[in-house]
Amino acid sequence: MNLFDVYPLNDVTIVKASGSYVWDDKGQKYLDLYGGHAVISIGHTNPHWVKRIEDQLHQVSFYSNSVKIPLQQELADKLGKISGKDNYQLFLCNSGAEANENALKVASFYNGRKKVIAFKKSFHGRTSLAVAVTDNPAIVAPVNENENIIFLPFNDAATLEQAFLENEVTAVIVEGIQGVGGIREATPDFLRSIRRLCDQYNAVYIADSVQCGYGRTGQFYSHDIAGVNADIYTMAKGMGNGFPVAGISIAPKFIAKHFMLGTTFGGNHLACAASMAVLEEIESNDLLNNAASVGQYLLNELKKLPNIIEVRGRGLMIGIELPEAFKDVKKNLLSIHKIFTGEAKPNVIRLLPALNLSIADADIFLQAIKTELGA
Ligand SMILES: Cc1ncc(COP(=O)(O)O)c(C=O)c1O
Repeated sequence: MNLFDVYPLNDVTIVKASGSYVWDDKGQKYLDLYGGHAVISIGHTNPHWVKRIEDQLHQVSFYSNSVKIPLQQELADKLGKISGKDNYQLFLCNSGAEANENALKVASFYNGRKKVIAFKKSFHGRTSLAVAVTDNPAIVAPVNENENIIFLPFNDAATLEQAFLENEVTAVIVEGIQGVGGIREATPDFLRSIRRLCDQYNAVYIADSVQCGYGRTGQFYSHDIAGVNADIYTMAKGMGNGFPVAGISIAPKFIAKHFMLGTTFGGNHLACAASMAVLEEIESNDLLNNAASVGQYLLNELKKLPNIIEVRGRGLMIGIELPEAFKDVKKNLLSIHKIFTGEAKPNVIRLLPALNLSIADADIFLQAIKTELGA
């Protein structure tokens, strides 16, 4: 049986990982500033995380949501505290797409409407509604096409206001910083406009925090920069440090009904143990502040370099847009300098490292990119 060949692969087989480093099967060490796509939040094979999962494995690894799972409440309490949304409610699921799918359902159940506003260059996942609100026709199958989605220009409050006037909007879904779209920040004013219009029209503000959340920007949710609350935050990637887990944090005004949402695997014991370990590490090692300060250091240093069109982002979510002539830099960072980075089309290098990245490791990257850019 062959694998269904949907991923273009780097010719690297990773067999070992620790902190911000991975090793291949030939013993070559790599600095990981990609984090397997923003997933590694507290470092590869973090000892506290390994122990938490290992201990849980010896107790009970899985039982369905038909019994009490006290770890879920522990997780909800800790997440509520660290994210500053104590009075929100947690629904646990398994992936970012599933989180967005559920958030959109909660919105539509709440106000009984169908029209969703999403933005140009957005990415929200690959399940049917998540992909329908994703601005990439190439990954929308005919069966996913949905006449209820309205794509608007990002950061354009006037167009948004007009769309609210013309449509019965159930929800607005927005990334605080567009990731796949090339590290583009929503302006605080735009996020406040979304909040104001959702209040005015009883629509639901969904903050997709799957990539930009969980402390990556130095605030728990990148949307927090606007000083207003979203109605629902969706999260995944960094939540389990590689253990598949996702969730949505839901404002108190939404009333749960039995069977309204559901999942077999979501919130299982192992996923909760992994997620607790992540939050405990974030808290005890002050990782939000580390993400903010190491991120700011990287941004400052990158902005001094030549041959860059633009450096964008916040905290440890950074995009470096390069001219066409430097299109091989990402490839060279991996093959020559042994550094993993992410990318966004056409020519943006994306940095999505672990939140405990050190200045020393940031310097290794800066030295490598300086060489590549001829600085
Ligand atoms: C902003 C955003 N939302 C949703 C998703 C989908 O997450 P998943 O791949 O876990 O379904 C992603 C994945 O890259 C993402 O970046």
